Amino acid sequence: MVLVSMTKDEYLQLVEELKKHDELYFEKHSPQISDFEYDQLVKQVEKIESTHPEWITGASPTQQVGERPTKGFKQTEHKVPMLSLANSYNEADLKDFEKRIQKLLGRDNLLFSAELKMDGIAVSIRYEKGELVRALTRGNGFKGDDITANVKTICDLPKKLPSTAPEILEVRGEVYMPKKVFQKLNKKKEEAGEDVWANPRNAAAGSLKLLDSNQTKERELSIVVYGIAESAPDRYKTQEIVHKSLKKLGFPVFSNKHFSICSNVQDLLECSHNIELNREELPFEIDGMVFKLNELSYWDELGAAGKKPRYAIAYKFAPLQAKTVIEDIVVQVGRTGVLTPVAELKPVFLAGSTISRATLHNEHEIQRKDIRIGDTVVLEKGGDVIPKVVEVDHSKRDPFSTPWLMPDHCPICESLVYRKEGEVAVRCKNSSCQAQNLRKLIFFVSKDAMNIDSLGDKVVAKLVEEGLVGRFSDIYKLSPNDIKELEGFQEKSISNLMESIKQSKNVTLDRFIFALGIPFVGIQTAELLAEKGETIEGVISLKEEDLLSIDGIGEKVADSVLDYFKNIDHLKEIEELLKYGIKPSNDKTKQVKDHLFLGKTFVLTGTLDGLSRNDARALIKERGGKISSSVSKKTDYVLVGDDPGSKYDKAKDLKVKILSEAEFKGLL
Ligand code: IVH
Repeated sequence: MVLVSMTKDEYLQLVEELKKHDELYFEKHSPQISDFEYDQLVKQVEKIESTHPEWITGASPTQQVGERPTKGFKQTEHKVPMLSLANSYNEADLKDFEKRIQKLLGRDNLLFSAELKMDGIAVSIRYEKGELVRALTRGNGFKGDDITANVKTICDLPKKLPSTAPEILEVRGEVYMPKKVFQKLNKKKEEAGEDVWANPRNAAAGSLKLLDSNQTKERELSIVVYGIAESAPDRYKTQEIVHKSLKKLGFPVFSNKHFSICSNVQDLLECSHNIELNREELPFEIDGMVFKLNELSYWDELGAAGKKPRYAIAYKFAPLQAKTVIEDIVVQVGRTGVLTPVAELKPVFLAGSTISRATLHNEHEIQRKDIRIGDTVVLEKGGDVIPKVVEVDHSKRDPFSTPWLMPDHCPICESLVYRKEGEVAVRCKNSSCQAQNLRKLIFFVSKDAMNIDSLGDKVVAKLVEEGLVGRFSDIYKLSPNDIKELEGFQEKSISNLMESIKQSKNVTLDRFIFALGIPFVGIQTAELLAEKGETIEGVISLKEEDLLSIDGIGEKVADSVLDYFKNIDHLKEIEELLKYGIKPSNDKTKQVKDHLFLGKTFVLTGTLDGLSRNDARALIKERGGKISSSVSKKTDYVLVGDDPGSKYDKAKDLKVKILSEAEFKGLL
C-alpha cells in the first residue's frame, strides 16, 4: 500500500505526520501508534523520496537520526556517531541484506551474530583508565544528552573496570526497565492516581531523563551491553570476541542462549524463530533480533547507507496479538459520569498476562470498528499495559448478531444518559450515582487533591462496599475500629491511615476545591478560584461576573462552577467537611518555604521533563510566587518546557524573562 503516485503536498503531509509521531515518541515518550505502524509510515516516506528525491528537504525525519535534545541536560558530541539500523520483516528482506553484503565484499562464506533486539534506550558509555567517565543518549546520532549521573545508578553496570580493560573503552548498549519492575512501578502509579506508562521502553526513557538521579535510582533500570564504539585498535576481531570480552570485563551481556553465530539466513531465521516462540517468558521486552556481520574488519569496508550501516540489520517481530471472543460489552461509569464501554473477553494469554477486559473507549470507536458482542477479535499488546482491540474477524461473525448500542440509561443507577453538544462522551445525569460516587471518592483522596496516602482505590472501594463511606465527609468519621474490620489492615497501617486522614485536614484552599471534582476545574482553575474567593465561603459566593472577570476562566468553566455550588447537597457536604475539621487555607505564608519568588508571577508553557506541572507549580507557590495562565507585561518569568506554545512567542515579544527547566532548577 505504498502510494507512489503522490502529489508533493500529500508527501509533505506525510512528512508532517511522521514528525508528529517522532515528537510523541522521542520527546514526549508517549507514542500513539505501534512501532509497526510507524515503520510503515517511514517506509512510505522513504519510497516517495526515492521516486522524488527533488522533494526531500533537511526537514524530513528520514534525514535525521533519532531524538532531539532534552532541556536540562548538557549536550555532548559522540566520538563515534551512533547510527540506527535498517529494519527487515521477512526472509526476502534478509536474503537481500545477505546478498548485498556478499556482493560488496566479493565473498560468500560469511558469519553473522544473532542477538536480541532490546526494546529500550540506546546509550554510549565511556570508560577512561577503567573509570566510568561519561554516558550519553543517542540524541541526533552525533550529539547526545549527558546522562552520566543517571546511568551510574544502574546496579548491573560496572562503574570501575578491572585492570585488564583497555585504557579507553566506549561501550554501546541498551538501558531497559525489566517487565517486573515496570509492572510494580505502574501499579504504584495507578494507586496514586497518576498516569501509567504505556510500556517499559517509555518508562525507561522517562527515567533516564530525570534531573534528579536519586529518582532514577528508584526506577531500578537495567542494561545490556552489545558493542564497542572505541577501544584499542584491532583488539577485537569479531562480534563474538566483543561479546566474550565485554562479559569478562564484568558487563551484563546477552546470555549464550541469546547470542549465536550463524552462517546463513536460514540459521538466522531458525534462531530468531526459537526466541520469538519464548518471547513472552523473557524478563524484558524485545521487539526482534539484530543480525550483525561477525567479522569487524568488514564493517568499515561496507560503510553505511545514509544513517544505517550495511553490516547489520534489525529483524522485527510482529506485534504480539491474540484472538479471543467478546463475551459481553459492559459499561463503566466514571467520576464525571462518562460511560465507557468495556469488552469482557474470553480470557486469553497475551504478552505475559491473561487478558479478560479491554476498553473500547466510546460508542464511536465501537461503530468505527463495528464491534459486536459474540465477535472474535484480534487483540494487540505491543508491550503496552492496555490491550487494544485491533479488528474484528468477520469470517467468525454470527450472522444474527446486531450492532452494539450505548444504553440510554445508566447501568448503575438507571438515570437517563445524555450527550453534550460537540462531545463524543455519553454521561449519566445523576450526580449521586453510585459508580460516579466511588470514582469521586477515589479522586477526592488522590495525591494532588486531599492526598490521603494509604487510601488506595481498592481500600476506598472496600469502604464503600462495607457501607462505611458514602460521601467525602464519611472519611473523616472513620474510627480505627471501622478500619480494623478491613482485610490487610494491622495496627501500624491503621495508625498510618488515621494520621494521613488527620494531616489532610490542613489542606490548601486550591487543593480542596480541586478535590471536590467540579467538572472542568483542574488544579490551575482551582488556584484561580482560591485566589479570587480567598475562603471557601468566598468561592461559593462568586457570581457569574466575578468568575468571568478571572483571567483564564471562560463561560464553560464559570457555568460548571455556578452549577456545582447551586446544588444544595454539595453545599451541605462542604459544611459537613468543615465541621469535621477540614481547614482549607489560603494563607500563603503558611505554605511558603522561602521568599525566593515572593510577588513574582510565573507562566508555564510546554512539557517539562523532570518535573510534573503540578510539582513546578507547587515549587513556585511554596516560594511565594504566583502562577498565571497568560503572558502579559506583568509576568516576571515564563518557564518553558519542550514544545512550548504561543506563550513562548509572546514572552519573547514582551521581553519577559524566559527560564528553561534547567535554569529554573538552578534558581531553586
Ligand atoms: S547494534 C548501528 N544491537 O536498536 C546501530 N542495537 O533500531 C548499532 N538495539 O539504536 C546498534 N538491541 O537502540 C544493536 N543487540 C542490539 C540491539 C540494538 C537493541 C537498538 C539500539 C539501536 C536500535 C536500532
